Amino acid sequence: MDFYQKLKKIEQDIIHHDFSTALSRKEFSKNYVKNNSSFVQFFLHIRNLPEEERKTVGKQLNRLKELARKRWKTENEKEKKKEDNKIVNPILPPGKENGHSHLLSIIEEEVAILMAEMGFYWEKSSIIEDEWHNFSALNFEEHHPARAMMDTFFLEDGSLLRTHTSPIQIRAMEKKILPIRIASIGQVFRNETLTSRSHHTFHQVEGFYLSKDVSYRDLVSVLSNFFKKFFFDNIKLRMRPSFFPFTEPSIEVDVACFLCEEKGCKVCKKTGWIEVAGAGMIDPQVLINCNIDPNIYTGYAFGAGLERLAMLRYKIDDVRLFLQNDLHFIKQFRSTL
Ligand code: PHE
Repeated sequence: MDFYQKLKKIEQDIIHHDFSTALSRKEFSKNYVKNNSSFVQFFLHIRNLPEEERKTVGKQLNRLKELARKRWKTENEKEKKKEDNKIVNPILPPGKENGHSHLLSIIEEEVAILMAEMGFYWEKSSIIEDEWHNFSALNFEEHHPARAMMDTFFLEDGSLLRTHTSPIQIRAMEKKILPIRIASIGQVFRNETLTSRSHHTFHQVEGFYLSKDVSYRDLVSVLSNFFKKFFFDNIKLRMRPSFFPFTEPSIEVDVACFLCEEKGCKVCKKTGWIEVAGAGMIDPQVLINCNIDPNIYTGYAFGAGLERLAMLRYKIDDVRLFLQNDLHFIKQFRSTL
């Protein structure tokens, strides 16, 4: 078994380890929690790896360690609760209900898990950006219409509310830890009129992979995996050539309209297809802007709107519902995770 397979096996064990007996709990603690756990041996092994792999593997080990620590903590808390004989789900008085997550949080969690399963690391990002990260570094020329395409909210100090999650690509590259395989989710803002199809505030998920030999085929495969998993396999996808200043070639991904089954309706503007993501191979100029050699590194990125995903999955026909806090709407969706 090679090193990476071992790590995968450990991850599975951390997630599924049996906690039902005192002995199996002790074994978990010995293997993953105590000071001289099996992680020590792995950390020592890192020294033998080529330099560019060290940081990624180190990060991965830290993630596993944290995963183990969390599982250990939750299992211990569960055990303690059992012992204290606490009532975990109190019965509420008539007329009262438990609260639950908003549909957007549910989708966000689901997408986060999906991206993690595909090997993307989670990256935090800020909604306030500057022109460099939101536009210039992403190859939007100063007076290019593409800048105007995204009606931007500027703040008084010259910074702006990001118009998309793509600035995360630049922020990740600036950290200079290659290869990069990250995902991020967050709010984005565009000064658009409110209609059933457009909102000034919405959410995007961004995936970004930069390494040696990343190909267009990798992009197509990750996109079809993502959408097949999200829509439970029963979808048709199509990819069309498109344009984004920071990817070349650029594509847009459409799914066959769920509502009319490709016959053409109001929601798909009579085309039978609905756009769900923008994507492409990272434009070499973007790499140069981040001092990365495009002759060595290639990559892909994709971005999808969370509201759009939720609307398609649950046949919701008005994007404004997401931010209205209308309980009739909110109560219809509960997490199944
Ligand atoms: N950021 C683009 C948008 O909001 C989508 C995109 C992401 C396109 C990544 C290509 C690559 O429209």
